[in-house]
Amino acid sequence: MRRQIVAGNWKMNGTRASVTSLLAGLTAGVSSLTGVDVIVFPPYIYIEFVAKLLEQTQMSWGAQNLSPESSGAFTGEISAEMLLDFACKYVIVGHSERRSLFGETNEIVAKKFIQAKLTGLVPILCLGETLVERQQNRTQEVVSRQLGAILELPNGIELLQNSVLAYEPVWAIGTGLTASPAQAQEVHLAIRQQVRDVSVAVAGTLPILYGGSVKAANAAELFAMPDIDGGLIGGASLHAQEFLEICHAAKQQGN
Ligand code: PGA
Repeated sequence: MRRQIVAGNWKMNGTRASVTSLLAGLTAGVSSLTGVDVIVFPPYIYIEFVAKLLEQTQMSWGAQNLSPESSGAFTGEISAEMLLDFACKYVIVGHSERRSLFGETNEIVAKKFIQAKLTGLVPILCLGETLVERQQNRTQEVVSRQLGAILELPNGIELLQNSVLAYEPVWAIGTGLTASPAQAQEVHLAIRQQVRDVSVAVAGTLPILYGGSVKAANAAELFAMPDIDGGLIGGASLHAQEFLEICHAAKQQGN
């Protein structure tokens, strides 16, 4: 049985006051959780603040992005080493907002993924099709190409070992529309199969999260699918009670 992961992507939201109250609510509620890895992804500038509030807890934290470069004259960028320096364990790579709003191609995403792995961060690689691509029946092709950008590298399967994937249909992110459990499972299964074609062992242990309008009300049915190993949560991760209910829905599937 793969461990369940519930990750909260705060995007560009929060203040010191709201982060303090959100984490107070979460830390009180996660202490009874076992078998679920709970991770939060604050904006860069709050990472140190979050690290201090979470260092004695079972929760982990990470960053929403990183530079593909290791150091140097890259104004405004944050390196993987810097994230490690603040005890980040995970980093989100290739979120659809980075791809669509900031021009991140599969090649840039692959460079970031490699940079994360080189330093020992665990990348959460986001994959997902747009509404038009789904309507054109191109979901599998798009997702397979996004995964292929890593898997087809010479050391692709080693890179995927101990990494995390997240299937996030772009049309479901922040829209209130969620893929049905069957729709999500179909894509998760295809993703796992693509990895299995290279390594049965890596495919068997690779966590694949679902993201896109996950809420307390729909989490359990999504997480019950055999190839869904938890969730990457946006909007609902900003509300302690809602996020905790999602974590508990994952717990029921784990162990
Ligand atoms: P959402 O975002 O839960 O608000 O749809 C998910 C994500 O972007 O990771």
